[in-house]
Amino acid sequence: MTGSGNATWMTTKNRCAIITGASSGMGAATARALSAAGFELMLGARRQDRINKLASELNARAHVLDVTRPESIESFVAACPQTIDVLVNNAGVAIGLDAVEVSRDEDWRQMWETNVLGVVRLTRTLLPTLRRSSDPRLIVIGSTSSVETYKGGAGYTSTKHALRAVVRTLRLELLGEPIRVTEISPGAAETEFSIRRFSGDRERARAVYEGMRPLTGDDVAECVVFAATRPKHVNIDEIVVRPLDQASASDVYRDS
Ligand SMILES: NC(=O)c1ccc[n+]([C@@H]2O[C@H](COP(=O)([O-])OP(=O)(O)OC[C@H]3O[C@@H](n4cnc5c(N)ncnc54)[C@H](OP(=O)(O)O)[C@@H]3O)[C@@H](O)[C@H]2O)c1
Repeated sequence: MTGSGNATWMTTKNRCAIITGASSGMGAATARALSAAGFELMLGARRQDRINKLASELNARAHVLDVTRPESIESFVAACPQTIDVLVNNAGVAIGLDAVEVSRDEDWRQMWETNVLGVVRLTRTLLPTLRRSSDPRLIVIGSTSSVETYKGGAGYTSTKHALRAVVRTLRLELLGEPIRVTEISPGAAETEFSIRRFSGDRERARAVYEGMRPLTGDDVAECVVFAATRPKHVNIDEIVVRPLDQASASDVYRDS
């Protein structure tokens, strides 16, 4: 986005954004939206076929990335441009909807490794690269689950609570530097999120959104573009975006 008549609006010309989890949902939508806004892109996710396809559509770069594996992060970062302006930490996962009493360590571990440690690792590794930018921005896709809980959701909601603490700590630690830190907290969005949460059970995933109108990846992508294109002195701390039909994690209006 360029701001005509306002010198403080940033120009996206030659600015580069990295997006994790760009193979589906909000990440893929964000890639399209940032590309349309003029950003050059570096895409990461585990499903290489998907990110390669999107990269060729958007004239972008792509490299396989598993944020739970330090060696994958290393090889991803080695393939990144020397300077990046925007890092969008979007990759994330929810697994199952088990009560704490019957939940499995391996599910918790995968969610924490992806949603918390993955963001910490990649951010830590890319901060020096971000610092080379004249206008660096760090954007994290959190969730309304960063402040809410629901039955069966402890494994996932605890990761987003923790991520919120990481984001807020980073804002303190980076004070005095030009790196802006934004948390985007969506409510229910229909992506591949629920399909994955329920191990490919599409019927169960569809039921999550039944009778209500969820967000789309595009709705969240617009928030990312907004946060990424503010003037240099403006930090968007957080954007909370929910479907109109959702007042809280468990209060959802359904017309059927
Ligand atoms: N959908 C919702 O209702 C909702 C609400 C609030 C927040 N969120 C958050 O929004 C973000 C995007 O989710 P989404 O809704 O777009 O779901 P999605 O369609 O399932 O996308 C998740 C993305 O994360 C990537 N990913 C998962 N594990 C990864 C790993 N270990 N390394 C690298 N990439 C990994 C996936 O790619 P690969 O499988 O190819 O690696 C995929 O591209 C997540 O952080 C999620 O927690 C979602």
